[in-house]
Amino acid sequence: MNRSLIVLGGTGDLTGRLLLPGLAELQHAGELADDLAVVAVGTHGRTDEEYRSWARDRLAAHAPRVPEAVREALVGRLGYEHGDVTVPADLRRALERAGGSPVVYLALPNTIFLPTLEALEQAGLPDGAVIAVEKPFGRDRADARRLNEVLHRLVPEEQVFRTDHFLAMQTVLNILGLRFANRLFEPVWNANHVERVEIVFDESLALEGRAGYYDTAGALRDMLQNHLLQQLALVAMEPPTAIDARSLSTRKADVLRAVRSPTDMARDTVRARYTAGTVAGRELPDYTAEDGVEPARGTETYAEFTVTVENWRWAGVPFRLRTGKALGSDRQEIAIWFRPVPHLAFGDGDGVPQPDVLRLRFDPDGIALELNLNGADDPFELERRALDIALAPPRLSAYGLLLQEMLAGSATLSISDVEAEESWRIVAPVLAAWQADEVPLLEYPAGSDGPALAPSRDV
Ligand code: BG6
Repeated sequence: MNRSLIVLGGTGDLTGRLLLPGLAELQHAGELADDLAVVAVGTHGRTDEEYRSWARDRLAAHAPRVPEAVREALVGRLGYEHGDVTVPADLRRALERAGGSPVVYLALPNTIFLPTLEALEQAGLPDGAVIAVEKPFGRDRADARRLNEVLHRLVPEEQVFRTDHFLAMQTVLNILGLRFANRLFEPVWNANHVERVEIVFDESLALEGRAGYYDTAGALRDMLQNHLLQQLALVAMEPPTAIDARSLSTRKADVLRAVRSPTDMARDTVRARYTAGTVAGRELPDYTAEDGVEPARGTETYAEFTVTVENWRWAGVPFRLRTGKALGSDRQEIAIWFRPVPHLAFGDGDGVPQPDVLRLRFDPDGIALELNLNGADDPFELERRALDIALAPPRLSAYGLLLQEMLAGSATLSISDVEAEESWRIVAPVLAAWQADEVPLLEYPAGSDGPALAPSRDV
């Protein structure tokens, strides 16, 4: 099959910062077919040469480790079509130019996914086309359903790629290896032995000039609805029969269906936004004073909720998901907290040991198992130690790996139609409660640990 790639939103930030660098990695690894044509579509009037010069600059800034000659080889593949992605004739021109069986990548604001897909329907897609859609996949469940309907009219579900770049991150993929290629963990991976699970993605990064998108999304839609719920699905799912799209999407969808949304919003959810402060020596203004922010929207930059997975394996175990921007540290991990031992034969009650914890950490990627061992000083006292390994950086970045998978026509690292709709179902009551101000919008100074009342502060 002669594959091509069409990037809608070809002059956007995502393309320049992540997609072109991902392609450059693949070019470097010799993973791009010689005849792969890449056509970018954008609303800026540019010639091919002008676009190539823009791409060259982006690649120099965001893929500096890829040798210049390799970047040039990629630049040589690029063509540019000036057009409106919601106009069928413009899309037809791009499809003709790209030829072959294209991957059509919607690197666009999600507000125009629907008209773009409708225009693609009218333009007509060649056989074997793959459609890749960025996140967030709609704004709510009804929106996701509408998008799924039109996608299914265009191509079979196996040829849809709903992007979640966390699924291509080493730490997230390691959930699979750790759980399903070792004997050790699976017998204790259930409510009998696990007390709680935390999925945390605290960022010291703030808005980074993305107010146009972020202020209408907020932390819940930006991170929890997709990235963090996908991690929950992989942590909690039943063992797959194969590491392929069908097996993984069935298992993940089953778990998401079993997730019970928070019911006591004041107890189980926290929303907050940052005020002025200092993060790593950098002064940040109030979120509301950032360029492009509309304070009256009440957009949260911190979101947290606790859910349970109501099935045989997990009933009663809390899964706490939290993320925030402009926080003091980049605590980014999945932490599995095990229950205490049934009887402790050590000590007199002082220094009661912590339960065992397994941590899968992001960037730098690592895995740590925190245990209680006999102390070095006093062998009859317990000491907390960690078996801690740092993992080498992966060969491909998350977007490099996603593009590789898309071009190969594999949906293994995609979110399925059911998963997308179920994830919106889970967050819907939280979105509604927050919109109705049933939960107060707390504040936290930039550079702090988050809002003072967040229940997660004790861990
Ligand atoms: C993106 C979110 O999907 O993921 C960002 O839109 C977030 O807000 C980012 O910062 C985190 O992922 P990474 O790969 O940049 O650590």
